[in-house]
Amino acid sequence: MVERPPDAHSRRLLAGARPTGRVDLGYYADVLLQGIKHQEECECFFLIADVQALTTHHERPAGIRAAVRDTLLDCVAAGLDPGCWHFVVQSQLPELAELTVYLQLLVTTGELTQNPTIREEARSLGRGDFDTGLNRVGFGFLGYPVFQTADVLLFSPFPFRDTGNLQVPVGADQLPHIELAREVAARFNSIYSPIFVEPQAQTSEVGRLPRLDGSARIGGSRTNTVYFGELRSEYARKIETMHTDPKRTALEQPGNPHECPCYAYHRVFSSESVLASTFQSCTSAELACDVCKRSLVDLVGSFLGSIEQRRAEYESQPHFVQDALSAGTRRARMLAQRIMAGVREAMNLTYPELAEREE
Ligand code: TRP
Repeated sequence: MVERPPDAHSRRLLAGARPTGRVDLGYYADVLLQGIKHQEECECFFLIADVQALTTHHERPAGIRAAVRDTLLDCVAAGLDPGCWHFVVQSQLPELAELTVYLQLLVTTGELTQNPTIREEARSLGRGDFDTGLNRVGFGFLGYPVFQTADVLLFSPFPFRDTGNLQVPVGADQLPHIELAREVAARFNSIYSPIFVEPQAQTSEVGRLPRLDGSARIGGSRTNTVYFGELRSEYARKIETMHTDPKRTALEQPGNPHECPCYAYHRVFSSESVLASTFQSCTSAELACDVCKRSLVDLVGSFLGSIEQRRAEYESQPHFVQDALSAGTRRARMLAQRIMAGVREAMNLTYPELAEREE
């Protein structure tokens, strides 16, 4: 295990993902880069949210198990150090279901129907619109931000200390959920007793990667992002057809990289010197957009190639997946049992006199 500063046990990092397939470049930029940057400062947990994946795929559970494995392998291939991270399978923590039930008491249905991410997801899944009342939004789907609040708060450093800290790297679409978790923590602490820290969302420093097809849809879709493991022919087509600075309509005009989706990708995948020269040659109208896109295709290609190579190395270690998931889940379960004892006590739900007497 990695040596960490002495207070690392009260500083935690929690990342999470729904296992729905291979990781995509947007998730890499939003979450994994933050995780890699801070992994040596804190105790780190990565929640593979297989139960939450069922909120949108409950009738298709078959692919989720393979995606749990893919998520783990993609994350370590991208640079999450398995010596720093505990990988946790959500369904194997029954404490989460219990905590969700308690925390539901502290959230109003209005807060859920007003949650912008839930509204947008319901719309894009074709499940209707809250304003008309004609929605077909499942109860579990509507409530998943509370379940996610439990995911987050379960990892609060416990016992509570003012210096305790829980950072959650997320994309912008997840901010309403982290805000809910903060509010629920504050409500719980003021009604019962201080148990939970207020988690802090950590958003990307490199900026969000724009959708490749120009759409505004939340989350990945086959056309708006590039997935790890994609063939060159697939990602090259998406990158070559992406928009660039909309105001630059001729090669002679200087481009504005700050308004250019292609440059946003360069910021993530180029070295600093290449980035500086791209900026310079774009703003001086020397670099044509299609040339710039082709160099991005190469950059993404070499990035994806290195991911596949590292992934294959992990895959070739016998039992790597099983060992990582079982050790991480075991550690999480131990901490979950500890904090849940505190939660039940705070809520007056302990009955020691009913425990079987051993004599
Ligand atoms: N909702 C997140 C997503 O769709 C996944 C997730 C589940 C998560 N539980 C979490 C993220 C806890 C951060 C913390 O990507």
